[in-house]
Amino acid sequence: MVEGFSPSWLDLREAADHRSCDVGLRMRFAGWMARFARPNILDLGAGTGSNLRRLAPYLGPVQDWILLDHDPAILAAARARLADWADEVALDGEVLVLRCAGAEITVRFLCADLAQGFAGLPRADAVTASAFFDLASEDFVHCLARHVVGQGSGFHAVLSFDGRQEWFPPHQHDAAMLRAFLAHQQGDKGLGAALGSSAQQTLEAAFGQAGYDVAAAPSSWILDREDQGLLVPLAAGFADAAAETGLLAPTVTAAWRAASRERGIVGHRDILALPPLA
Ligand SMILES: C[S@@+](CC[C@H](N)C(=O)[O-])C[C@H]1O[C@@H](n2cnc3c(N)ncnc32)[C@H](O)[C@@H]1O
Repeated sequence: MVEGFSPSWLDLREAADHRSCDVGLRMRFAGWMARFARPNILDLGAGTGSNLRRLAPYLGPVQDWILLDHDPAILAAARARLADWADEVALDGEVLVLRCAGAEITVRFLCADLAQGFAGLPRADAVTASAFFDLASEDFVHCLARHVVGQGSGFHAVLSFDGRQEWFPPHQHDAAMLRAFLAHQQGDKGLGAALGSSAQQTLEAAFGQAGYDVAAAPSSWILDREDQGLLVPLAAGFADAAAETGLLAPTVTAAWRAASRERGIVGHRDILALPPLA
């Protein structure tokens, strides 16, 4: 049984995710992908397909995607979300064929646990991911980078948590809560001891050392009064994770939970890593 991210949580965050990702890196990625008449893209930890919905409008008239996740329920939700999102939908066996804003997009769903390694994964012109790498270990990132570089593929991963969370109005226990949350982030999430907030640095180092051209940019969530629908469950999830570590007195977590929050910032970063020019 896979411990999961609920599709409803991924739905809640999708708008903030899309508006926060760096437009410059996305455009550079799209420019690089233009060399492929029919690009194929492998999205790791794809969830309900948010990263496809974010990128596909920029990647040309015919595209082939593989959405990989280890959670069959989330992949079923992805199928439904993508069918709703597209202008037209057809099925070719198990493959979803979407028409959206003039593009034809085929989508295959691959239920696989990335803890098993990359050897059996299909080759892709680009490997992408969104809100995934803070779950990964250092070894995992280095193996993945070797795999991607070995295939000469492009790599674009967005929304890796960078360790910053700020709440407004501030609360006396913010700093203690954040320390506990960061400790929780480093627990094993199925891919070895997780990098948490150092995932981005590790990605940049792994692809840089492999000779790739690496660019990075911030993609922080800036959540305002109108984002209460996300802010409230975000703070609750943050408090649950911090409490799970056992590092805090229950009175501290309870006092923090009871406070109301109008705004928040969650730090993220995006990376684009491309093969060096020949
Ligand atoms: C935070 S969610 C992000 C989902 C999606 N990329 C998005 O941005 O909405 C992380 C995703 O990684 C998947 N995942 C976690 N560990 C995995 C593993 N070992 N193998 C494959 N997928 C995994 C989860 O099922 C979940 O869908």
